[in-house]
Amino acid sequence: MSERPLHLNAFLMGVGHHEAAWRHPRTDPARLGDVRHYQELARIAEAGGFDSVFLADGVQVWGDVEHTAAQVFEPITLLTAMAAVTSRIGLIATASTSYSEPFNLARWFASLDHISGGRAGWNIVTTAGDRAAQNFSLGAAADHAERYERADEYLRVVTALWDSWADDAVVVDRNSGRFADPDRVREIAHAGRFHQVRGPLNTPRIPQGHPLLVQAGSSADGKAFAAKWAEAVFTAHQTIESGREFYADLKGRLAGHGRGVDSLKVLPGIVPILGSTEAEARRLADELDELIVPARAVRQLSEMIGVDLIGHPLDQPLPPLPETVNGAQSRFALVRDLAERERLTLRQLLSRLGGGRGHQVVTGTPEQIADHIELWFTTGAADGFNVMAPLLPSGLTELIDTVLPILRSRGLFRAEYTGTTLRDHYGLARPADGFDSPRLVPAG
Ligand SMILES: Cc1cc2nc3c(=O)[nH]c(=O)nc-3n(C[C@H](O)[C@H](O)[C@H](O)COP(=O)(O)O)c2cc1C
Repeated sequence: MSERPLHLNAFLMGVGHHEAAWRHPRTDPARLGDVRHYQELARIAEAGGFDSVFLADGVQVWGDVEHTAAQVFEPITLLTAMAAVTSRIGLIATASTSYSEPFNLARWFASLDHISGGRAGWNIVTTAGDRAAQNFSLGAAADHAERYERADEYLRVVTALWDSWADDAVVVDRNSGRFADPDRVREIAHAGRFHQVRGPLNTPRIPQGHPLLVQAGSSADGKAFAAKWAEAVFTAHQTIESGREFYADLKGRLAGHGRGVDSLKVLPGIVPILGSTEAEARRLADELDELIVPARAVRQLSEMIGVDLIGHPLDQPLPPLPETVNGAQSRFALVRDLAERERLTLRQLLSRLGGGRGHQVVTGTPEQIADHIELWFTTGAADGFNVMAPLLPSGLTELIDTVLPILRSRGLFRAEYTGTTLRDHYGLARPADGFDSPRLVPAG
């Protein structure tokens, strides 16, 4: 096994990441609302030796309800059910710093980490888009930069709450009637621009100290935030050049926060469309594309990049686009660059985005997918991948049965787990509680 292990996260979404997955005969849309479907996916990913499973989340309806497979479960609730049927695989959920209170969120992830024996991870999002804001008594989303300022303060609050009980605070002395040592529990007395939080948290310190901190924003603000707080970064890239540039940029910022390059893992997304032959894989890709509903795809693209394309002629190139947007800035830039670089019409762009919303779609044999993964991993573009199976569960089982054996034969991927917590799998240290030594809060 190589010194530097490849990390694989299974990004789970309904019955598959391709936007038309629920219409394909190889899936069963009736399972979208069945918790056993997701429990099975977690067991499949664990049997495959994945580091973690990840559930995305939004606080609004995505796309149009007519043509979109509905998201049924809130992710932390669902991960708790998945924790009950697994023992090693990490459990990562998205939660928003813009539309939740830090005290509540600190408890949610603390509970998941206690329940799972140290396998919780949090994908930190600031939530782009006005539609979400309109579910929280606001007319529009806050400005991009302000969303990240709020997220920075939010992280200072939740990490202080997770450190408000020392590891040895709980004493359970029934003779004396002392359950905890009050000198090992403290208030945080946070008074900031966005939050005032007294503390302590009403949950003893968790197995991992802090849940694994994940982030997925690749804009300038996003990278600055990630370099300070993130331990794993999910990102989207269409080319290996852009992947390498992002990787070098982010790793290069860590020293400024007193962090080592291995303290953060970069995981680009990959949508593997597999076949025993290349032709067979292409056939599957075409089948899926034919099931795309253009009206729905245009609506999703408009929401994703924050530019209204509804009614734009499908066989025309995109209209002139603004310099940037207030929403998901890096995704907007990725889509604009892709359309311009390849001179795509709107219809062609929808087909390119159908499989992975901007993440790279790789269509081919298990050998070709393994070669692609190895190239990015060994040439400075990735520490691992966010695997987005186009169809679930079949696309995930196929990858585990055909691609992972190749990666193992090349000494790139684990044959079995060597640790029990999510941090163990990612090779990341457990943060100290800061009671006997200064709390390690990133500088700047
Ligand atoms: C793999 C991945 C998963 C994401 N999951 C979510 C999610 O669950 N919920 C969400 O609101 N945004 C999600 N995002 C979007 C990011 O949080 C962020 O808004 C986007 O990448 C733009 O960030 P930027 O404006 O800093 O470039 C995800 C992005 C990526 C790459």
